[in-house]
Amino acid sequence: MSDGAPGQGPSTRLIHAVGPSPVVARTVGPPIQNGSTVLLPTAEDLYDHSRPTYGRSGLATHETLRATLAELEGAADCQLYPSGVAALTGALLAVLREGDEILVVDSVYAPTRRFCDKVLARYGVKTRYYPARTEPEALLAMGGAALKLIVLESPGSLTFELQDVSAITALARARGVLTLLDNTWGAGLLFKPLAHGVDISVQALTKYVCGHSDVLMGSACASAPAVVKALHDGVHHLGWSVSGADAYQALRGLRTLAVRLQRHGESGLAVAAWLAEQPEVAEVLHPALPASPDHALFARDFTGACGLFSLILKPGPEAAVNALLNRLTLFGLGFSWGGFESLAISSGDQLAQRRFKTAFAGPLVRLHIGLEEPEDLIADLRVGLDAYAEAS
Ligand SMILES: Cc1ncc(COP(=O)(O)O)c(C=O)c1O
Repeated sequence: MSDGAPGQGPSTRLIHAVGPSPVVARTVGPPIQNGSTVLLPTAEDLYDHSRPTYGRSGLATHETLRATLAELEGAADCQLYPSGVAALTGALLAVLREGDEILVVDSVYAPTRRFCDKVLARYGVKTRYYPARTEPEALLAMGGAALKLIVLESPGSLTFELQDVSAITALARARGVLTLLDNTWGAGLLFKPLAHGVDISVQALTKYVCGHSDVLMGSACASAPAVVKALHDGVHHLGWSVSGADAYQALRGLRTLAVRLQRHGESGLAVAAWLAEQPEVAEVLHPALPASPDHALFARDFTGACGLFSLILKPGPEAAVNALLNRLTLFGLGFSWGGFESLAISSGDQLAQRRFKTAFAGPLVRLHIGLEEPEDLIADLRVGLDAYAEAS
């Protein structure tokens, strides 16, 4: 194909006059490469799938992001998805088939439960839930002959129980059962699932990796060749893709992940320790607190904490929880977490959906501690707790 030339019509010249720049200056980050069509040099190259032939499978920005995430998770390969939920559901669909049975931790992120119950069930995959602190041997004993996969989330959503990941994965491997762990809390830095024997580590990059509450993306990392291939084929068959611009944002987030996480974690612990002393608070659910029943596992497996945890209030009505939340000025009221800003939510009906109910003393509030000064957040929370006390 030649460039536009004198004598050709104006549309032809506009389309073909200037080709791609032959020189791309070397910037610190990779180029944001957007594209659906990839132009191949010769007809023979059209069906050479050892090279990129179509934008959906990812271009320069995606390749750099995938390689960096694989490095972070200590994995051979990484697939990208347009949200954390898409990564979870995409990974499950990639490895499961009709007739399989899966064991899913009861403290799993609510949309993962919804997918198992509403979608996997339609395709003949049976889900059985287990309490987060089930002993590993008892957990494996729950699975029948069709057990294919165990889904872990450690810490669990909202209630932050830890699991003995290496003990569970050792037993699962011995039985030929796969394991998948939602590693969003650990963000790839604080906990290394693959080093603890997990087959698939999934992250909602939306949270700490992207870090600014403005991008949705997910990843699934693996090392075993059969799992790597299943994840790759799954993305290919389902047609997931993310934009080059979003991939760039995720990569930019990765560059500062370690320093942001350290600050989130330190501030989170300071706020959690303060909350544990407040008269309105019955309990703080944070595995890094020495009083946590999971503290020994935390000290063994994690290199630090992020800024997400929950508190259990002393008994009070829902209206009092709303009064607390409505008085906060530095905490936004909104879902998600992992951005630079502090957020708070009540638990709504999420705990009621669980198969195994924990008898907490009172209502649960989940906090995400952002990058603000912790003493300002503490002052804000004190005002909220006063409102809780008044309305109880
Ligand atoms: C533990 C966990 N996993 C996965 C997700 C899903 O991420 P996304 O919002 O990108 O779909 C979330 C979102 O809140 C989450 O908290």
